[in-house]
Amino acid sequence: MAKITVVGAGNVGATCANVLAVREIASEVVLLDIKEGFAEGKVLDIFQTSTLMDFDTKITGVTNDYAATADSDVVVITSGLPRKPGMTREELIGVNAGIVKSVVEQILKFSPKAIILIVSNPMDPMTYLALKSTGLPKNQVFGMGGALDSSRFKCYLSKALNVNINEVEGMVIGGHGDTTMIPLTRLATYKGIPVSQFADADTLNKVAADTMVGGATLTGLLGTSAWMAPGAAAAYVCESILRDQKKVITSCVFLEGEYGQNDICIGVPAVIGRNGVEKVLEIELNEEEKALFEKSAAAVRATNNVLTEIGVL
Ligand code: 2OP
Repeated sequence: MAKITVVGAGNVGATCANVLAVREIASEVVLLDIKEGFAEGKVLDIFQTSTLMDFDTKITGVTNDYAATADSDVVVITSGLPRKPGMTREELIGVNAGIVKSVVEQILKFSPKAIILIVSNPMDPMTYLALKSTGLPKNQVFGMGGALDSSRFKCYLSKALNVNINEVEGMVIGGHGDTTMIPLTRLATYKGIPVSQFADADTLNKVAADTMVGGATLTGLLGTSAWMAPGAAAAYVCESILRDQKKVITSCVFLEGEYGQNDICIGVPAVIGRNGVEKVLEIELNEEEKALFEKSAAAVRATNNVLTEIGVL
């Protein structure tokens, strides 16, 4: 049976562990944090919902004890600082890069075969860092951004169209940043029919704009980064891995020629299964979308360059 470790017991990590446990996605969940007793406390709280929520997942909280994470099948990395109101995800790079790099090193000592899912921000450069610094194959390390951004896109779409949230489809590609993400409005559907048949261009442009600042809107409202949807989105990706569901989930993956890009980790639709990233889906973009993707990739690349400037890569 499967074991998942979640590193970082902050809001996103604890929510992810909670969803994994309640939905019994793994038989064992380990939550690890650097702060003494913190993961233990979060886990005790989750454990005490077992009979209320009807689950029996084994869940353990540990302080910096990487041995307890041994032989994990999947490891979710949420470590690092969250954003504060007015901050971009990119501004976190200086602090979070060192943290993510050292966490990945420790994890691999005990779970060399684990699929590693990066959630820490700025997520695209953190995924690139984790991949490059370890030299692991590209299917084994990828980032969660598109699952969350696409989920937000569908929420805004369903509200604008005033329809059932589970009857709209849409995806967000590009970087996981306020100005780098690309909601693919042209390809979004309601019951398989293009949404342009149900809403005018202004309405759809507003949906796209709201999606792009989806995280920033919540940071403004909450005073810190969101966690319910980010935690659930990470758990959703874990489920597709462990149950080998082969769902198409927009994920931050290493590109080697796909979408005209090389040596970058950025959001594209990918088949996610037991081997992690099993396939990148190359969908046909129009000229406008291609230009947006190139711009997004250039911005992600600029942030990747900071990794070299600060000496972590
Ligand atoms: C978000 O978009 C935390 O980046 C995450 O809410």
